Amino acid sequence: MLLDAILAWVHFVLIFGLVGCLFAEVFFYRDVLPAATFARLRQVDAAYGMLAGAVVFSGIARMVWSPKTAAYFLHNPIFWTKMSLFVAVALLSIPPTIHYVRIRSTAQPDGTVRVERSAYVKMRALLTVQVVLFAFIPLCAALMARGFR
Ligand code: HEM
Repeated sequence: MLLDAILAWVHFVLIFGLVGCLFAEVFFYRDVLPAATFARLRQVDAAYGMLAGAVVFSGIARMVWSPKTAAYFLHNPIFWTKMSLFVAVALLSIPPTIHYVRIRSTAQPDGTVRVERSAYVKMRALLTVQVVLFAFIPLCAALMARGFR
């Protein structure tokens, strides 16, 4: 039971970090990115990726060492809905990461990056959809934790 509580704590802390990174990305990303802002955006994006990996490990650990047993989750459609949402968010986070790498080479001599309008609108939409889908993951978790299936 203590192990379960500790794993739940780790899962929560990592998720808070993940949500923080997603929102930081939403706030840092602009059509005009001064060098310092762009550098921070890339750092946040890297941390977002690493935390997502850590959340997967903490989630799997919760499942494996849960008093409910892993089979309980693996046979729960709400668990799979949660996983699908997580995978969808992860896939939607790939184009922005590639975009940040690409626009780096377009930086002006002072390091400022100006993002093309169409790319900017597309990336902003991808970030917004990530936020919306992400919001439903804890709903699935809360339902699952309370025995819904
Ligand atoms: C591969 C990724 C993940 C796996 C395998 C996973 C797995 C789990 C497991 C097994 C539980 C315990 C549920 C129970 O006791 O019935 C849990 C709880 C929880 N998970 Fe995840 N999780 C993952 C990702 C996420 C993400 C991205 C979020 C983001 C919001 C999240 C939010 C939560 C919350 C809020 C709880 C606690 C629910 C409650 O006690 O009311 N999980 N997760």
